[in-house]
Amino acid sequence: MQKIISIAISGVGNRALPKNQNKTNWIGWINQIKKSNKFNLVAAHDISMKPLNKLVEKKFLKPNKIYTNFNKMLENEKLDAILISNPVKFHYYCIKKSLEKKLYILVEKPFVSNLKEAQALLKQKNNKNISVVQNWRTKDSSRILRNFIKSGKAGKIGQIFFRYIRNRENPNYPKYLFKEDSPALYAMGIHHLDLFRYLLNDEIKIVSGRFFKPYWSLYSSSTGVNLTLITKKKTIITYTSTLSSLSKVSSQESCIINGSKGSIFNESDWFEPHLIFKKKGSNKKQKLTAKVKKISTYDQYNISDLFILNNLYDFIVKKRKPICSARDAFNTIKLLHYCKKACMQKKEIKVPIK
Ligand SMILES: NC(=O)c1ccc[n+]([C@@H]2O[C@H](COP(=O)([O-])OP(=O)(O)OC[C@H]3O[C@@H](n4cnc5c(N)ncnc54)[C@H](O)[C@@H]3O)[C@@H](O)[C@H]2O)c1
Repeated sequence: MQKIISIAISGVGNRALPKNQNKTNWIGWINQIKKSNKFNLVAAHDISMKPLNKLVEKKFLKPNKIYTNFNKMLENEKLDAILISNPVKFHYYCIKKSLEKKLYILVEKPFVSNLKEAQALLKQKNNKNISVVQNWRTKDSSRILRNFIKSGKAGKIGQIFFRYIRNRENPNYPKYLFKEDSPALYAMGIHHLDLFRYLLNDEIKIVSGRFFKPYWSLYSSSTGVNLTLITKKKTIITYTSTLSSLSKVSSQESCIINGSKGSIFNESDWFEPHLIFKKKGSNKKQKLTAKVKKISTYDQYNISDLFILNNLYDFIVKKRKPICSARDAFNTIKLLHYCKKACMQKKEIKVPIK
């Protein structure tokens, strides 16, 4: 008989259980877990009773399985794993406590708030039990693109141009979002910069850049960033991003990858598949994602989340590698740290790579 993993969740917000399904890009972790025959949702924690009561109303959990005290939940429940989906400033504490209980951990991006916390977790016993949700890695486009680059069909990748233009200036969003540190890097850049590392199977060695923010922004920190990144294998990445565009006149993401044998292009909002390859010297456009039928934002989020959940199962039960380990996530957090430093100091900085 298949082993069932007993899992609990901390943070029952929009990512775990969407408040308005019509306005959200995913079915959420709770529904993914409830639909899976590999996991049993045993308990949930949040600091607010409102989302917890919703879980009881929906008959997802009994009233004695909801907690407003994280440690109490860990003490009372017999768990194999925990999914941490609360705001980033609580990730470090929850991970540390869960590691003490020898639990397997799936934690939402960003892994932790800063490099210091990431370094401290790498020193913790059992840190190999950690897996991080870097869900841009598991969208169909990324998986196909990674394999295509690896196959060498695009040749050696020389340069990448990536722009992200979004309206996240919504006053109805939770207030804490507007106070988060460098959201251009830690809210969205973390997806894109992590994706570059993953797609190229390379590390970024040199960074330079500039933060910016338009005068109308509701955020306390910079919402825009221009970066130039150079990898160990000498790929140059030009990255431009803003969360403060007030209207949507184009798709959010545009990605051009120039290789010595051809170029790849993806125009998307959340890295949905429209991958096009044009071989050097040819006029024909090859659709690399032609076989992918479920291309909507909603489908692609759910596909990538399910992929991560199944990977967590295989990680725990079959001892497979996590898609994003603590060490791997540490490298992305480290990269963000040095990008921030380069922007603040307005100079080129070398990222220390072991
Ligand atoms: N991977 C992705 O594509 C993606 C998308 C959105 C959000 N996220 C991440 O998911 C996490 C949650 O985001 P969200 O959009 O659901 O946020 P949200 O604001 O909708 O919900 C956060 C929930 O956490 C609860 N909470 C606050 N403090 C807590 C604490 N100390 N302990 C436990 N719960 C606490 C809140 O009451 C709320 O229910 C964040 O880490 C965010 O960065 C990831």
